[in-house]
Amino acid sequence: MRVRIFKLTERNNFAILLDITALVRKAHHSRDSGGESITLEFLLGTQMTDIKKSIHGEWSSRFAFILAATGSAVGLGNIWKFPYIAGENGGGAFVLVYLLCVLLIGIPIMMAETMLGRRSRQNPIDTMITLADEAGADKNWHYLGWMGVIAGFLILSYYSVIAGWASAYTVKAFFGSFSGADATEIKSLFDGFVGSPLQLMFWHSLFMLATMLIVARGVNTGLEKAVRFLMPSLFVLLILLVGYAMTTGDYYDQGIAFLFSPDFSKLTGEGVLIAMGHAFFTLSLGMGAIMIYGSYLPKDVSIAKTVYLIAGTDTVVALLAGIAIFPIVFASGLEPAVGPGLIFQTLPIAFGNMTGGWFFGVLFFVMLVFAALSSSISLIEPAVAWLVEKKDMSRKQACIWSGAVTWLLGLATVFSFNAWSNVKVFDRTLFQLLDYLTANLMLPIGGFCIAVFAGWIMTQQHTTHEMDMPDALSYKVWRFVIRYVSPTAVFLVFLNVIGVL
Ligand code: TRP
Repeated sequence: MRVRIFKLTERNNFAILLDITALVRKAHHSRDSGGESITLEFLLGTQMTDIKKSIHGEWSSRFAFILAATGSAVGLGNIWKFPYIAGENGGGAFVLVYLLCVLLIGIPIMMAETMLGRRSRQNPIDTMITLADEAGADKNWHYLGWMGVIAGFLILSYYSVIAGWASAYTVKAFFGSFSGADATEIKSLFDGFVGSPLQLMFWHSLFMLATMLIVARGVNTGLEKAVRFLMPSLFVLLILLVGYAMTTGDYYDQGIAFLFSPDFSKLTGEGVLIAMGHAFFTLSLGMGAIMIYGSYLPKDVSIAKTVYLIAGTDTVVALLAGIAIFPIVFASGLEPAVGPGLIFQTLPIAFGNMTGGWFFGVLFFVMLVFAALSSSISLIEPAVAWLVEKKDMSRKQACIWSGAVTWLLGLATVFSFNAWSNVKVFDRTLFQLLDYLTANLMLPIGGFCIAVFAGWIMTQQHTTHEMDMPDALSYKVWRFVIRYVSPTAVFLVFLNVIGVL
């Protein structure tokens, strides 16, 4: 047997361990009576899985991962997007489908995605290469990683523009622009703002810059601290807003009823697809964000328990946002289906008219910007990790490149609200097109593939080992759901929307 001697630098340690593991596996495959290599495979394969670490470091604890993953999940998706798409799709029935999708598709796939990342400890592209190789599967699985990286760019490009709106509204709140204003005034404030490409571009640039600065410093350092204070504060503020909503008089009859009494006649096939897409979007699934965060997850952490906690928090935040917003919508005589401007046309009314509204308004929009930041960094981290691992860039260089690409793409969204608002592709503005393409198509397709990979391609031995469930039954349930329920559900929703069902 030929022995190659490597100089193990810290940067390359991991890649080389993998190379050795793969070599030994090959040797094992090519021999029938490989007693010796079985021992070696045991030594190099199984045990090394346990000592694998990402070159980017690790979360300091389970709690740190929970904070970061919750930070990724909770964002504009919960507070800006959920209310406006629920409003556009008729409320109750849509919300019910969304909750079902979180339970049957989102949670099991979130477990699978975290598991894939932790097993390989690399960026999503190489994760798919390594794990496909480990399972003896086709190389083409790495396209899944690529699709994720592209989806990340596309999502961040419009995410950053909307986060820019939230940043601008922080300043508006600070200068008292909402004080005493009624629904009409707040609406014209919003229309004037999004009608200005320069303003949108300015705030989009600022937000992208902030994202790049944080990511350049490494996601698992400063972020932990920021999210630790962010989540509880956001929670308290939302409860406060729900309190205000209760005083509007339309709380139960219209607000709560709109969100929680399902009227299935209002739900279209397209609505079901949007609800499912949103389950992926809000949990940051299907593009490798949770995978890359999983790759920084220490070995001894229970994936299942952690995922329940994250998904639960995310869902509660979205529902609270809806409960706070819809009573104001009806009390102010607004339409629930006004679209992406919904929270910017409702919450300022609350802040402009409630006691302490100036203070809470500023605080709310600051929180929203931070919540968006802790999400945006997870959208770009897979690409950055890949550039650092594979293209030998420094984190700083990687951030500049990926940030520049995203910024440029973001201009499409900036102009889709003003100069190019008449440009339609498939009957959609560029912003709507990007949103549809990513949230409703790329993420569900990505999630479907992750489920198939974890349920059908990876060996049961490996998934059992990596999931490390508290008991055998939980593992069996997860495996059943990830093999049959989640992929079938995604598939049926697609069939439904193209009219086959
Ligand atoms: N989940 C975030 C939100 O709700 C957005 C987000 C962050 C995301 N990372 C993602 C969406 C990855 C899809 C994929 O605001």
